Parts: sequence; C-alpha cells; structure tokens
Amino acid sequence: MTMNEININHDELKKYGIVKVKNFLTNDELKILKDILGSKLEKNHPKSYFSNNLKFLLYKILKFRFLDFKNHLYILKLAKNKKLNKIANNYFKRKSYVKFIDSYYSPISDKDVLPWHTDQAYEGDEKNYSGFVNPDHAHIKFFVYLTDIGPNNGCMSYIPGSHKIGYVLREGIFNNKIKYENYYLLKDFRSLVQKNIDYLLNQLDEKLIKNFLQNTEFASKNIDTTKFDYSLSAGDAIIFDEGGVHKGSKSLKNERIVLRYLYSTKKNT
Ligand SMILES: [Fe+2]
Repeated sequence: MTMNEININHDELKKYGIVKVKNFLTNDELKILKDILGSKLEKNHPKSYFSNNLKFLLYKILKFRFLDFKNHLYILKLAKNKKLNKIANNYFKRKSYVKFIDSYYSPISDKDVLPWHTDQAYEGDEKNYSGFVNPDHAHIKFFVYLTDIGPNNGCMSYIPGSHKIGYVLREGIFNNKIKYENYYLLKDFRSLVQKNIDYLLNQLDEKLIKNFLQNTEFASKNIDTTKFDYSLSAGDAIIFDEGGVHKGSKSLKNERIVLRYLYSTKKNT
C-alpha cells in the first residue's frame, strides 16, 4: 500500500450505493488543489474539464500549455496515488476507466444544484433508451470537496440502497420486462417502481423496496427532506453509484468547489 492510498468500506458502498471518505486529501494536497482549482469556473465550462488520459496530456505539451500540463498531471496522479481505479474495478467486478474529470465552482444560491434524480435514466434521447438503460454500463463518481458542505449548503443527498432498485429497473427495461418510461426524477422513479412492484419483488429483498418507498414518500407529497444529506469538510470525499437516487443541494452559506472523477465500465460513450 502506498502512503496515499485511501481506505474505504467496500461493503458499505455496495450496500448503500454511497460511502464517505474522511480526509481523502492530506492538508498539503488540499492546499495545492485549492491553488489549481480556485479559478471559479462554473459547471460545464470547457476549461472545467481535465485530461483523463495521456493523449490529451501530450496535446497540451504540443500546444506549449505547460502550466495546464502540470496541473492536469497533478489531478491524474492524484487519482493514481489514491488508487481510484482499483476501487472502481472492485465495485464493478471488472475493468473500468476514468471517463471524465472536472472541477467546478457553485456560487451561493437558494436554488438546488440538481433535484432528486438518477443519472442512468435519461441522456437526452429517450427514443434510444436501450443504450442508457444497459445495466452493464455502470458509473461511479468520486466527489472530492475543497470547501465544507452540509444540509442546504452544497451537500450531496442520497437514498440508501436506491442504486440496487435503479439497477433492476434498467435490467428490466433492457430485457423488455418493464415498459420504458422516463424515470429521471424521483417522482417518476417511484411511480415506475410502484407499477412494476411484482417484478422488483422477484429480484430484490422486500425490505429494501419497502424502505425505499417509505424513505421517498416525501416526493409524493411534494416536500423535501434533509434526512439523507451528507455533511463533510474540505478535503473529504464521497464515492457513489450514480444509478441511485440523489440530489445536489443549494449552497446557502458558502460557495462550493468540487473535483469529480467519473469511472465507467464503458469506454468512449
Ligand atoms: Fe447526478
């Protein structure tokens, strides 16, 4: 084990679909990353993305963008030192790849970053849903926080165990056992679960489904909850299966800077 490798509870990640990693970064790493990532680029800005492979890095040398090169290399090396690929491979039980790396800044705002949703439900082209519901194309995300986060302050909220339901829904749709309908938002996800309850009960533990429906009852009443929020300090991280139901909360107290690594079982999608 290298000095930098992180220890995570693999069983917790498998069971709940999410795990906290306290002190993911050392104090020195946090300081360096704050320098590299402090430029306040908002989500989806072209410069918010980092090279996820050597080809992009070499392109930066050719373009004489040495400062970019140094920073991108640091971000890539960090993933290597922390052995993120090994964690992802272990989770998927097969080879995975870093599909993208980005970092962005969210200003103080009273609007949620994203509502309760699952990522592997909708890719903007509903007619070709068989591509994104393929249960073998899985993704996990590493969120590394450079600022403190908490309820109503830029935190991630996650319904524990919902990744297992998301997986069975995708598998059912993919194998034509469940009729496809858009289930990106929690309200629609719940409705698809209720409509296909018998299929789900054949595949999953009854308690898991019952807990999910109870835990998400707030969505049917059009109210929200902070019960599933993850509070963390700058330098901590979370790892989660993005096929589960989650939310990115508003940042009322302070701005948020996050570094994200997405690992996927499918290359170049
Ligand atoms: Fe998401």
